[in-house]
Formats: sequence, C-alpha cells, structure tokens
Amino acid sequence: MAHEMSGEELRSYREQRGMNQQELVTWLNERMGRRYDRAKISRWETGAERIPQTVAAALKTAVSPVGIPAASVRAAPIVFCAANQKGGVAKTTTCVNVAWLLAAAGRRVLLVDCDPQANATVHLGVDPHETELAKATLTHALKSTRPMREFVTPVCDGAFDLLPSSISLAAADRELLRQPNGTLILRAKIAQLAGLYDVVVLDCPPHLGELTVSVLNAADQLLIPTQTEMLSMMGIPQLFETIAGVRELVNPRLRVLGILPTMYSPRRLQDEQVMAELRELAAVEQLRLFSPVKRAADYSKSVMAGRPGLAINPNSAGAESYQEIADALLVLINDDTGRASAGPEGVTHGA
Ligand SMILES: Nc1ncnc2c1ncn2[C@@H]1O[C@H](COP(=O)(O)OP(=O)(O)OP(=O)(O)O)[C@@H](O)[C@H]1O
Ligand SMILES: [Mg+2]
Repeated sequence: MAHEMSGEELRSYREQRGMNQQELVTWLNERMGRRYDRAKISRWETGAERIPQTVAAALKTAVSPVGIPAASVRAAPIVFCAANQKGGVAKTTTCVNVAWLLAAAGRRVLLVDCDPQANATVHLGVDPHETELAKATLTHALKSTRPMREFVTPVCDGAFDLLPSSISLAAADRELLRQPNGTLILRAKIAQLAGLYDVVVLDCPPHLGELTVSVLNAADQLLIPTQTEMLSMMGIPQLFETIAGVRELVNPRLRVLGILPTMYSPRRLQDEQVMAELRELAAVEQLRLFSPVKRAADYSKSVMAGRPGLAINPNSAGAESYQEIADALLVLINDDTGRASAGPEGVTHGA
C-alpha cells in the first residue's frame, strides 16, 4: 500500500516550493483538474482531513521542488454561458447585464460573443463590420495562433472586455468547427486566459449547432434563460440532452446554474401557467429557478445606447434577478468549491 502523506509533510513540501496555501491549491487544481480550496489545504495540513493519495502522488512526482513555473499557478476563470436554442429569450441581454454586474463588483470580466448575429457586440457599442475589417473578431481569434487576449477590446468605458463577433463566425461554424475536434478550439483558447480574467461570459446563438456545442464544451456554468411562454420552454428537454452528451463525452465540469424566466408579465394567465411548469421542472431536475425578469422597455432601449440596461438604469425591472445570477457567480469565484469539479459526476443537471 502506498505511504500516506502527513499534514506536516504536506506543509514541508509546500514550503520547499516557496508557495502559500492559495498558490498550492491553484497549482494542484491546474495539475489535477480539481477544484480544491484553500480551506481544504489547511485541513490537510492540520491533520483534520486525510490527504488523498492522488494529491500526495502529484506532489511527489513534481519535477522540481522549487520554481514551479508561474504559468501553472494562474487561476482559470469561471466560464459562464447562457444557452437556449429558442431565439429571443434574452440570452444576450442576460450575458451583457450579468457581465456588467460582475465588472461593477470589481471582477475582471471578458464577454465572448459566440453568435454570428453579433447582438452582444452591437449592444456593447462595437461595430461588427469594423472589427471584421480589423480582423479582431472571435472568428479571427479561433483561426489564429496568436493568443486570445490580443483580440479583445474594452467596452463600457473599460469596465470589462469584449471579444466581438461578426457574420464571418457563421462560416467558421460551418467550416472550422466541423473539423475533427473543432468544437474544442474555443475551450483551448479560453484556457489561455488563465490569470487574466475572473469570469468569461459566453453568449450563444439560438441553435444547438457547433458554436453552441463549442460553448458547452468550454463552460463551467450554464444558465438557461426562457421566456415565460410555452414555446420557449419546449426546447429545454432537448437542451438537457445536449448537456448530458457534452458532460459525458467532453466536459464533465459543466453545471447548470439555473433557469431564468424572462419577459414575464405577472398578470397574464399564460405567464403564470408557464411559471408553474418551470417551478415543477426546476424541482424535478433539482435546479435553481431564479426570480423572473419582468418585461421592461429599458432592455430594448439600452441596445440603441450601446450599453447594458443596468448600466443606464440600475433599478430596471429584473435588476434583482440579474443580481441573483451575478451573486451566484461571485460565490463560485470566491469559493472555488462551488466551481465545477472534475470529480465523479452525479446524474442530475445541478451542482
Ligand atoms: N425583460 C425584458 N423585457 C422586454 N424586452 C426584453 C427583455 N429582455 C430582453 N428584451 C428584448 O428582447 C429582445 C430579445 O432579447 P435578446 O436579444 O437578449 O434575446 P436572445 O435570446 O439573445 O436572442 P437570439 O436568440 O436572437 O440571440 C431584444 O430586443 C431585447 O432587447
Ligand atoms: Mg442573442
């Protein structure tokens, strides 16, 4: 049987490497694909918890006891996406406003527009034709050997960054992403952003094609926005099937953060019926149902202004719902036990 590592031995390994507990946890997580947190290291070192043999083995087989390369201690961002193959359910509105709230909370945020319609790009005041001419879109980033960070542009007076889209992404969807392993390119590119951002927000197109699969392959947390009308809800079971396939084959880290009802009109019978169905669905699937975002003209008006609705009017209807989502992500950023884990997977869609 392999020799167990004691807490004292662990501390000594860590100190020999000149690392604090946070640096060690980041290094272990990167190396082992896990999501341990600093408290866990502390519990191991005090002997409150047994050190897994896989952790001991990873430490003992590290090439050098000192000078672990800086690149390996950079924290990976949380990758958040909003997906629903139904069009017009507020995926883009959600991404843009959640990105804004996370940036307002002091987090380093990148929004990647993964939709050839370029709605998020336009919503953030960036001209997709100009970025296409400047060869500074997601299409160019996916095709290039240059690092992803060279393609981003600041938006909202520098509050956060955008990787813009343009119509050329439709061709990339048809060609590049359909090559073998094509739907892993985005994931590999996002991995280059470790240490640069706390959160990467991915806005999906309204279909379950290669772009959406690329997003799901790369994501840690998926939110499902749905209008409170029957047709918008109907696609959710098919989305669950896609998620299950992605989790099984490529990305076991993917978790569903929850369902967000949007464009809700409280006094309409149909909206109330759909809300009741969503409550039932969330209970069955063990998913969080966020408070519904009511219909509000602020969101469509803000597109013209080239800014997130909540940047213009922080008290718009639905502000609390978007804050709930941002808060859920902030918890995950602050406490990486909530971040997706590469450990054994349950059958439910939830965390
Ligand atoms: N709470 C809301 N109340 C009223 N209108 C809204 C609300 N949220 C979003 N909208 C508007 O609804 C339209 C569709 O929203 P959005 O573009 O965010 O949806 P989407 O799911 O990204 O669409 P697509 O599937 O085409 O990408 C937009 O004009 C947007 O401004
Ligand atoms: Mg959209």
